[in-house]
Amino acid sequence: MAFGATHLSLTLCLVALIVLAKANFDEKIEPVNNILEQNSDMLSQEFCIIAAVRSVVGEAITRERRMGASLIRLFFHDCFVDGCDGGILLDDIPGRFQGEKTSPPNNNSVRGFQVIDQAKQRIKTMCPGAAVSCADILALAARDSVAMLGGMPYPVRLGRRDARTANFTGALTQLPAPFDDLNVQLGKFSAKGLSAREMVALVGAHTVGFARCVTLCDDRNINPAMKPTLRCGCPVSSNNTNLVPLDLMTPEFFDKFYYEDLIRNQGLLFSDQVLMGSSATADVVRTYNSNPGLFLREFNAAMTKMGDLPPSRGVQLEIRDVCSKVNGNSITDM
Ligand code: HEM
Ligand SMILES: *[C@@H]1O[C@H](CO)[C@@H](O)[C@H](O)[C@H]1NC(C)=O
Ligand SMILES: *[C@@H]1O[C@H](CO)[C@@H](O)[C@H](O)[C@H]1NC(C)=O
Ligand SMILES: *[C@@H]1O[C@H](CO)[C@@H](O)[C@H](O)[C@H]1NC(C)=O
Repeated sequence: MAFGATHLSLTLCLVALIVLAKANFDEKIEPVNNILEQNSDMLSQEFCIIAAVRSVVGEAITRERRMGASLIRLFFHDCFVDGCDGGILLDDIPGRFQGEKTSPPNNNSVRGFQVIDQAKQRIKTMCPGAAVSCADILALAARDSVAMLGGMPYPVRLGRRDARTANFTGALTQLPAPFDDLNVQLGKFSAKGLSAREMVALVGAHTVGFARCVTLCDDRNINPAMKPTLRCGCPVSSNNTNLVPLDLMTPEFFDKFYYEDLIRNQGLLFSDQVLMGSSATADVVRTYNSNPGLFLREFNAAMTKMGDLPPSRGVQLEIRDVCSKVNGNSITDM
């Protein structure tokens, strides 16, 4: 609520400023009324979109708390592969592209697609005529999830557009893997303009959610110290659906306890625990553990920065009508 009010007054101030600036710079000021009207239309559309997404995400998290974690990860996996372009949502188009959805880091692992589809649908019914990309819906859903699981809300800038293609190999090579050592992880974040400190903040999202036993039974992916306590019954078949929390202490809450896990050598993934392997990252882990408020603020700042990752140059963009499909239905439309 408090956030909504602040955001509203901030945006209203901005609109007022823009209108004033326009009035000062324009010789002829008769369109001011139109501008005001247009701006307040856009503003109420934006509020409608925000409210629609929030209601769908709230319902989903009430049904299953883990869905909040899944939506945060879905946004991360969208942004890290060729920018925040909704690419992860696209079904493969045989003969045209094999996409991100079925790429090994995502296949049978990322979730939340139905929630995004439902949000798109709710926007259509609640806010007729509103144009919002699926990439923007992902950004809003991740933010709402952070806030609803116990983190802090933060403003999300809209205006992203959806790609008309997706990148199978991009998901394989650009996303960090649970067996990546510290240098490989740092390299992948630095390729996205994110510092070591921003990386430690973002991986703090592992304070919520779960990993699959299928992932953990591969020795390369797990913190060796966690193997003896792992209740997976490894080896498991590839259709095993058992889960293990990434944060042993409070997997349902967006808090600082993931960092405490790392300090106790109880990080679940190999990639988690290696953050303690160099003072550059271990110092940040200790800082966030002793100052949870700082973690929440720096996490939000890093999410905002990640959420600004632009689509690949030259890729065609649109506002997708159905999040799993590019607009139009024949090659000649393209
Ligand atoms: C070095 C970086 C990272 C690696 C190697 C990594 C790897 C993983 C792996 C292997 C899983 C479990 C997947 C499965 O078993 O199906 C997972 C889950 C998760 N990851 Fe990451 N991750 C990283 C960074 C991040 C970042 C930056 C975020 C978000 C900002 C994030 C959010 C999550 C969440 C919330 C889950 C739980 C999802 C659920 O329960 O559905 N991760 N991650
Ligand atoms: C994705 O998972 C499905 C179901 O397990 C499997 O049949 C398919 O081969 C996988 N796709 C890829 C590209 O690995
Ligand atoms: C797809 O991913 C590869 C590997 O990361 C990258 O080199 C390529 O530029 C990407 N393609 C697009 C269209 O972004
Ligand atoms: C899992 O796969 C095995 C074979 O790989 C099969 O026998 C079993 O019925 C499957 N279990 C489920 C729940 O689908």
